[in-house]
Parts: sequence; C-alpha cells; structure tokens
Amino acid sequence: MDMLVKLYEIDPHKTLLQVSKVEKKNDVTIRQAMAYEKEAVVEFVRGTFTGKWSGWPSECDIAFSNWPLSCYIATCRVPKDKTFDRKVVGFGCYNATCRGFFGPSGVAEPYRRKGIGSCLLLSSLCAMRQEGYGYAIIGGTDKQEQWDFYSKTVGATVITGSENGIYLDMLK
Ligand SMILES: CC(C)(COP(=O)(O)OP(=O)(O)OC[C@H]1O[C@@H](n2cnc3c(N)ncnc32)[C@H](O)[C@@H]1OP(=O)(O)O)[C@@H](O)C(=O)NCCC(=O)NCCS
Repeated sequence: MDMLVKLYEIDPHKTLLQVSKVEKKNDVTIRQAMAYEKEAVVEFVRGTFTGKWSGWPSECDIAFSNWPLSCYIATCRVPKDKTFDRKVVGFGCYNATCRGFFGPSGVAEPYRRKGIGSCLLLSSLCAMRQEGYGYAIIGGTDKQEQWDFYSKTVGATVITGSENGIYLDMLK
C-alpha cells in the first residue's frame, strides 16, 4: 500500500528541534548526504537491507543524481586507531523511486527505536516542502509496523486501492 502525507502540516522548526535532540541523545549526526559519500551510503544500503529490499541500492543511487541531493543520512562515531571515524547507521531518500515519493529509508537494527528514522523522514519531508511539494507519497508499505511508524510520526494515511501501486511487473 502507498501512504499519503500532508507536507503543509509538518513544522520545520519542530523538526529542527527534534533532530537536534535525537542527535545529542544518541551521539549521531543527521544531515543531507554529500556527493562524495555516494559509494559509502549505497554500500551501507546494500549490506544492511537485503532480500525483498534488493532494489534499494539502485533507488538510493538515483537520489545522489538529483540536485539538490535527495538523500539524508544518520552517522555515528566509531573508534579508529587513537581517533574516531564515522559510519552510516540510517538513510532516507525522496524523489528516488518516483517524483514526489519518500523512500526507500531504513535504520540499522541496533539503532532503531531511538528516533533516528523519524528524523530522517521529517528532514526529507521538510526538504520536499521547500522544493514545492504539497503532499508526499510513501510507496510500497506492507507491514503493520511501517503503517504504525508513518501514521504516528507524520500522520500518513493509507491510499485506498494502492495495493500494487507502481511496483508492477518488476525484474527480480
Ligand atoms: C521503519 C524504520 C525506518 C523506523 O526507524 P526507527 O529509527 O526505529 O524509528 P523511530 O525510533 O523514529 O520510531 C518512531 C515511532 O514510530 C513507531 N515505530 C517505529 N518502529 C516501530 C515498530 N517496529 N513497530 C511499531 N511502531 C514502530 C513508534 O511509535 C516509534 O516511537 P516509540 O519508539 O517512541 O514508540 C526502521 O524500523 C527500519 O529501518 N525498518 C526496516 C526498513 C523499513 O521497513 N523501512 C521502511 C520502508 S517503507
């Protein structure tokens, strides 16, 4: 099922505050990805989301071809030698699968239920609003936990009759 989000009901100021709170609490950074990070982000998606999510690296790659880049990432510090490096722990794309669509998006399992997925979603939706969209579509949700996540965080509603949506006749 696809879901619909009213972008005009999302408050960019509240989003900034929420992102800042989640960043501080979890020692993560949530921001728009940079072009030079494409390989690292696509590799994270490929290595973390497999099986039925095998199309996600391609979709994420496309987000890096858009301008502005339509991919947000969450990163955290990892110790390296006597200093620190950073690794990707979550991502959220828009205008990747279709224009006006949010997704794909995901957070690595150990980092879930900390508010990171919400921040990636809200940051992407604020960017879409800024780019002139009034509504966003979340494509291809198929689990209760996804419906719960999107309805709770951004008031998304299921679009009647969207069972197959755009995902027809897909190459495996
Ligand atoms: C969906 C996903 C991105 C959520 O990321 P997250 O960082 O865990 O989400 P948040 O911590 O911001 O969750 C915000 C709220 O959404 C709801 N929620 C999140 N995950 C949920 C779950 N598994 N079941 C029910 N509600 C859930 C909760 O109300 C949660 O608030 P709470 O933890 O205070 O109760 C993550 O679970 C994920 O990567 N799943 C696998 C990939 C996927 O399904 N992506 C979406 C494709 S459409």
